[in-house]
Amino acid sequence: MVNRILVTEAVKGEAMDLLRKEEDLEVIFEPDIWSDATALTKAVANAEAIIVRNQTQVTAELIAAAPNLKIIARAGAGLDNIDTAAATEAGIVVSFAPNENSLSVAELAMGMFLSLARNIAAADQDIRDGNWNRAKFMGGELSGKTLGIVGIGRIGTLVAQRAKAFGMNLVAHDKFADPNAPHYAGLDVSFIELDELLAQSDFITVHLPLLPDTRRLFNKERFAKMKSTAYLVNTSRGEVVDEFDLAQALQSGAIAGAALDVREIEPPTQVDVIVRSDKTVLTPHIAAFTNEAQERVVAAVCRDSAAVLRGQEAEGFFNFAQPKRLRS
Ligand code: MLT
Repeated sequence: MVNRILVTEAVKGEAMDLLRKEEDLEVIFEPDIWSDATALTKAVANAEAIIVRNQTQVTAELIAAAPNLKIIARAGAGLDNIDTAAATEAGIVVSFAPNENSLSVAELAMGMFLSLARNIAAADQDIRDGNWNRAKFMGGELSGKTLGIVGIGRIGTLVAQRAKAFGMNLVAHDKFADPNAPHYAGLDVSFIELDELLAQSDFITVHLPLLPDTRRLFNKERFAKMKSTAYLVNTSRGEVVDEFDLAQALQSGAIAGAALDVREIEPPTQVDVIVRSDKTVLTPHIAAFTNEAQERVVAAVCRDSAAVLRGQEAEGFFNFAQPKRLRS
């Protein structure tokens, strides 16, 4: 029997090319189908596996329309676009790549701190506009500044290691972290309450999953508790920041600036205050988009899809390693 793997977004690379050569697997590459709910529902009806990024909404309805599905493989770390409870209930393995792109995300966060501190993006644009305004772009050093890390899991820890090398003082808030865990040893991170972190930090970097209690965590009340000289960096999920409140905080001077790799709506539907502001640095959800990270991510989802379809175990499983759903 040939098992069909439906790829619903642009997940490409060497591992995918190798998968295509397997005789017992058929890769159906439909990188835009995520945006057409009717076509997607029709296509999943015949798939034994689907490989998605973050734009395919794998809802309970979609899962119900996929009677043969054994594995949903998420090419990335966030599972907020997948109804994992419905998949588990249906006996379908949910596999993801929780570690594979962490380093790239951490490095982009460092780039955001530097760009905010030294006006790199704004100065670059200014030169392209025909200027040479040295005095306009007086910046600050990262060394000696306090970095508040909200969510110090894999990515937050990698950021902490790098920020420490830059001489930053580190504070963190994470409801689930054990401050005595060995990977925090030597980092000199103070674990504090969120309000204290907001009050103390010169830079705040967010590394949280999107959950009911993290949605719009950064809102008017939180911005009011930050220093007026502080910068917010979000490379996690757009919905963690209330963009209406952020726009107001930027306009009123409640905070100094923000760098966002992620937006509440992707792609944004309008050129809003956040896009027009000279206090923001913006990138189009590219934190995980490095050649190295994508090679690891694509290899992980291809490996797990092939394994599960061949009756073996997924390595990056979120719910269980093998499908509870019997092959029809
Ligand atoms: C992730 O969740 O791994 C990153 O945000 C990248 C992505 O969503 O594709």
